[in-house]
Amino acid sequence: MRTLFARLSAALFLVVAIIGGGFFMVEQISSRLYYEEITQRLNASIAMYVTGEMQLIEDGAVNEDALTLLAQRAMIINPTVEVYLLDTDGRILAHPMPPESIQSEQVALGPVKKLMSGETEMPLRGTDPRNIDRQKIFSAHPVMHNDVLQGYLYAILGGQKYDELADSVRGSYVQKLSLGALVAIVLTAFLVGLLVFGLLTRRLTRLTSDVQTFTESGFDPEQVEALAYQGSGAGTQDEIGQLREAFSGMANKIREQFEGLKETDRLRRELVSNVSHDLRTPLASMHGYVETLLLKNDSLSEEERLRYLEITRKHSLRLRQLIGDLFELSKLDSASVKPTLETFSLAELLQDVTQEFELQAENKGIDIDVHAHDGASMVHADIGLMQRVLENLLRNAVRYTPRGGNISITLDKKPGCVAVAVADTGCGIAEHELDRIFDRFYRSEQGEEERTNSAGLGLAIVKRILDLHGSRITVNSRVNQGTRFEFDIPARAA
Ligand SMILES: Nc1ncnc2c1ncn2[C@@H]1O[C@H](COP(=O)(O)OP(=O)(O)OP(=O)(O)O)[C@@H](O)[C@H]1O
Ligand SMILES: [Mg+2]
Repeated sequence: MRTLFARLSAALFLVVAIIGGGFFMVEQISSRLYYEEITQRLNASIAMYVTGEMQLIEDGAVNEDALTLLAQRAMIINPTVEVYLLDTDGRILAHPMPPESIQSEQVALGPVKKLMSGETEMPLRGTDPRNIDRQKIFSAHPVMHNDVLQGYLYAILGGQKYDELADSVRGSYVQKLSLGALVAIVLTAFLVGLLVFGLLTRRLTRLTSDVQTFTESGFDPEQVEALAYQGSGAGTQDEIGQLREAFSGMANKIREQFEGLKETDRLRRELVSNVSHDLRTPLASMHGYVETLLLKNDSLSEEERLRYLEITRKHSLRLRQLIGDLFELSKLDSASVKPTLETFSLAELLQDVTQEFELQAENKGIDIDVHAHDGASMVHADIGLMQRVLENLLRNAVRYTPRGGNISITLDKKPGCVAVAVADTGCGIAEHELDRIFDRFYRSEQGEEERTNSAGLGLAIVKRILDLHGSRITVNSRVNQGTRFEFDIPARAA
């Protein structure tokens, strides 16, 4: 009883048995009622015919001989008829049956009068004097003499003869046949139901086993396809088909997330190895120079000593910057950090940031142009984070633009936001690298010299900060012609 199929089959069996049994009972009752109604209508006039033939009661005296004769005649018409002569109170005055077979001396007059009035539904049953437990259909007629009511003639239709006959017919060929047909119909219905349930539950069972296989396979893509595959075809639209579709969709989602997790894990490993590599290189170099200073301090010239110290300082600065960037990225990644939004002038911020790079740019002979209208540059953002974005972009522009180049920064008012563009006339980025430059630790293949001093974290930080502001950065670049970064910053609180 544990499987759905078994339960459905049991329920079906119950329903079929109830319907079959109910039908059998209704059929039995209705066929009996049908017989009784027909018989009563057909034989309604028997009593009238008997009373019409001879005078049965004359001033209270019963003509027994006439009654016996007439009863015999009536039995020729219908052998199951039993005739009684009643007085006006329903008491039995005479009958042609053996006296010991009579159980009741009294017949209820209610049904008799009802039948004679003609206003009644048939079959109508009355007292059977030979069997007080059971009422029977009957025919009745008043017995008159000189227009005075003397009593009634009461004729039971289907008396004991009928009962004996009906008993002997029970279990006859016809009855067996009809019962057999009923059982066959019920059984067929049950079997067809079993087949249908079997087909339906088989699909469920298959779905369950497919889902199990998928789970056990460790989210194998092939199993996802197997789940979806059987969904296409007949029966896709029914609930089981929809369930399969839902499962297949869920399996796809799970697999995607699983792949995503695997990718994240791979990136994390890569990050850790990149970080350790980037930390180790300057650290090893610093260690080497400090060791040399310690060991050969006496033999080193003042100039050499200063150079070694300068190199050590450069490496320690780089380490500090790297650790700072990593720390910042991990902070930005953790969901707990929310940008503190405030309204400020982006033009003013830009001015401060360009000032930081003025000296560096001047040394390289690079011009920095700013196109910004102070009034049209109010934005709603985290000012500290925005400063980091502009710094990183400007640092890149200055770093990757050769001597004599040009950098231009534009602020444009757009509906609901301010569009920022940072463009340079630098070395540019090869097309196949464009979608990787925002990855952590990604550094361009060209420019060996710049690579040693960079970690490849700047643009990753920029992208993350803009993500937090609901903005997207885009890049356009041509190798040896220049690069242009663009993004929008919300102008007002949403
Ligand atoms: N303005 C630019 N012109 C040309 N190439 C650029 C420019 N900005 C970025 N790139 C390329 O994109 C790569 C990634 O830039 P990102 O700022 O993330 O790292 P980085 O500048 O190399 O190092 P970091 O910023 O961490 O010091 C750079 O290595 C560089 O090759
Ligand atoms: Mg950078």
